[in-house]
Parts: sequence; structure tokens; C-alpha cells
Amino acid sequence: MSESVRRGTARTVVVWDALLEALDERARIVDIGGGTGGFAVRLAGLGHTVTVVDPSPDALAALGRRAAESDVRDRITGIQGDVDGLLDIVEEADVVLCHGVLEVVDDPAAALATIHRVLRPGGALSLLVAQRHAAVLARAMAGHFQQALALLDRSSPAAGGRSSSRFTHDEAADLLAGAGFTVDAVHGVRVFADLVPGSLLDLEPGATTALVELERAVATRPEYLPLAAQVHLLAHR
Ligand SMILES: C[S@@+](CC[C@H](N)C(=O)[O-])C[C@H]1O[C@@H](n2cnc3c(N)ncnc32)[C@H](O)[C@@H]1O
Repeated sequence: MSESVRRGTARTVVVWDALLEALDERARIVDIGGGTGGFAVRLAGLGHTVTVVDPSPDALAALGRRAAESDVRDRITGIQGDVDGLLDIVEEADVVLCHGVLEVVDDPAAALATIHRVLRPGGALSLLVAQRHAAVLARAMAGHFQQALALLDRSSPAAGGRSSSRFTHDEAADLLAGAGFTVDAVHGVRVFADLVPGSLLDLEPGATTALVELERAVATRPEYLPLAAQVHLLAHR
């Protein structure tokens, strides 16, 4: 297993654990901004029906290739589009994945309101967003102190041009509540996975397994949430 695969496992294990626990058999899943299908292809392999909606034709082409390689083309549909037009594109869903997308849309509150309307009553949303406190720490540790300063506050115009491209847990939870969702679970994701040197994962026997266990162990501890590169919220309509 390559270092990037090892690190990828440690980065996503907490989200996968939560998703697999939340999913019923044969769910109708919409993966908004699903990109090249990192989640969609495996979910289709588990028997779910997945519709990936993404504005990028390149990403959708890669998704098609991955779906073919994994022999799940009959359970994955890739559609070019964005969250604004979601209601015109997809039918009712049991589960919506919105991973790494709220950061790039113009109006996160409107995006969540649209997703809410796509879900069936009781349907689940898996929301994964970049977490602002960890981004401040990462900038500071890299010596980018002005960038760290600019990221401190949500409204700072110097925070990379987009004022809301990262979220604290409370901001994400407020957005979900505002759109009519009830939050069921919160997880800190990538608390340590991004900080560990790649050579350690390559050379130290058992390091990846131990890192995965550590990520799992801290995921639901609130004291580690501000250190998590991403926050994952499971919510239902
Ligand atoms: C950071 S990537 C995340 C990809 C995937 N969800 C994942 O977790 O690996 C963001 C994705 O959102 C897509 N995207 C950008 N703007 C969007 C919009 N307005 N609506 C839906 N998706 C969008 C991009 O094309 C890209 O595939």
C-alpha cells in the first residue's frame, strides 16, 4: 500500500465508520459535488444506488472510469450540474452526501435548504466541511502568520477572498438548524492524519493501523474537535 493510500485511509476512516452505520440497505444516495467518486464508487459497490452531481466534466469522466473499473456502472449515475439546480436534476433521496462542497458554494445556507428539499422525510445528510480552527493552526505552523490571522474570524475579508470557506462546528451546526435539519452526530476528522510525516507511515510497521485507531478514538471527543482538519455532521430531515 502506498503512503498516499495509507494516509487516505486515516483521513477518511471516521467518515466511513459513521456513514456505514447510518446507511440502510440499498439506499438512494445523492453525492453532491461527488467529484471523481471517492465515496460514490465504494457505496455503489455495497449495493446502494448513487447519483453524483458535479459541475466538473473532468471529474465526471474520471468517475465513469472508476465506476467501470469497479464494475458498478449500473448503480452510479454522473450528472453535470450544481447544488443550485439540484431539485431539477435528481429525484427524492434517502441520503445526501455533501463533502467538501459547502466551502466552495456562494450561499451555504441556500445550498443546505435545497439539499433538505431533496431528502425524503427522515432522510440523512452527511456533511463534511473544512474546520477553521485547524486551518489557522496549519497556517501558523507553516509560518504564514498573516494568513492565520486573516482566517481567525469568519467575516475577515483577508481570509483568502472567501469569508465563509471554512467553518467551526458551531457555524456548521447553526447552518444545518437554519435549513431545518436535526444533527444526530458530530465527528472530528483528520485530527492527526495530516500532521504525521509520510515517511513514518511508510517505514514504521503498524503505524497506519495505529493512526487509524487514534483517529477513531478522538473523533467524538469534543476537546479534539478544534484540531480536526474537517468536521463531519450527520443530520436528518
Ligand atoms: C473538494 S472537492 C470534494 C469532492 C468529493 N465530494 C470528496 O469529498 O472527495 C469539491 C467538489 O465540489 C464540486 N463543486 C464545485 N462547485 C460546486 C457547486 N456549486 N455545486 C456542486 N458541486 C460543486 C467540484 O467540482 C468538486 O468536485
